[in-house]
Amino acid sequence: MLGFPASASGVLTSGCSAANLIGLAVARHTKAGYDLRRQGLRAAPHKMVLYASLEIHASIQKAVELLGLGSDALRYVPLNDDFQIDLEALQAAISRDRRDGHLPFCVVGAAGTTNTGAIDDLQALADICQREGLWLHVDGAFGAWAALVPGERHRVSGMERADSLALDLHKWMYMPYEIGCILVRHADEHRKAFSLTPAYLAHGEGELGLTGGDLPWFSDYSFQLSRGFRALKAWMSLKEHGALKYGRLIQQNIEQARYLVERIEAAPELELAAPAPLNAVCFRYTRPGLDDARLDKVNKQIEVELQEEGIAVPSSTTIAGRCVLHVTITNHRSRREDLDVLIQEAIRIGNALTEAYFPQEQPA
Ligand SMILES: Cc1ncc(COP(=O)(O)O)c(C=O)c1O
Repeated sequence: MLGFPASASGVLTSGCSAANLIGLAVARHTKAGYDLRRQGLRAAPHKMVLYASLEIHASIQKAVELLGLGSDALRYVPLNDDFQIDLEALQAAISRDRRDGHLPFCVVGAAGTTNTGAIDDLQALADICQREGLWLHVDGAFGAWAALVPGERHRVSGMERADSLALDLHKWMYMPYEIGCILVRHADEHRKAFSLTPAYLAHGEGELGLTGGDLPWFSDYSFQLSRGFRALKAWMSLKEHGALKYGRLIQQNIEQARYLVERIEAAPELELAAPAPLNAVCFRYTRPGLDDARLDKVNKQIEVELQEEGIAVPSSTTIAGRCVLHVTITNHRSRREDLDVLIQEAIRIGNALTEAYFPQEQPA
């Protein structure tokens, strides 16, 4: 479905944050070059460093901190104009770290950033990782599912070359919380990073052959032992709806995001804050004569009023230093009319706020 080999290993997790942590744990263990599980990072001959764009999800930094690497081991690479990782800057950072005696071990690519839905050039990242001997981990929390849409699949091309891929099914697969997933290309690397079998969990062949024999357990592939039956809802949903229908619904959300972009570009009171390649759209209410600081306050208040009046539930975020409204369409029941209402009401609230609080700045 996602182009990963059938021999890959995978475990369902509470979400993409846990999936990112597992993926990076396997990367760290595989690339350390010594027995990291026994000796820990204090035995590392070189500082292990990894790379991701400035727009990577915060769960990556949290994972890096939990893995004991320290957040300064995560090199935040600048963005290009499309909010993707800048490849030249990445290459330069890797070379600089090598010159300084560090051990670059991993690049984290984004298949859909939280803010703008930007997808890094995953083919180029796979090439760099191949050339440099680095692990490629892709955070595809929601964007990875673009692979189910024939007309959009090219956007995540290269994802299938990753060493590990983290995803959520509670985002763009419309399933109830919680369900994420980590896939690891080489199952043996995955297992080596986690497998630990104390006597009370030994799972060899029993006298009657009823114990599952030497089949690995999920605890061999993550830090979790007891676990809920997350697979049931994933299996049932896929059986009931099928991958084609999921692809159609995802396509519908992408088309709705494009419609929203058109409506924003047609409205003089609004401006698009970033390209919107998938389903995340960032925009801002504007008014001639109002400076950026005041517009930030107005946009934040538009978010609050849209929510408190029960109209819509956008969030807000910061793009290029400015507060913008942030809409991510991941609901199979969303309709274009909902987006019409959002636009109309964002403008109405924006106009009312500027008239009430900044009357001297009204255009003549
Ligand atoms: C790109 C991305 N990565 C990771 C996460 C974390 O996922 P979760 O909330 O399922 O842990 C999110 C969103 O929450 C996300 O948008």
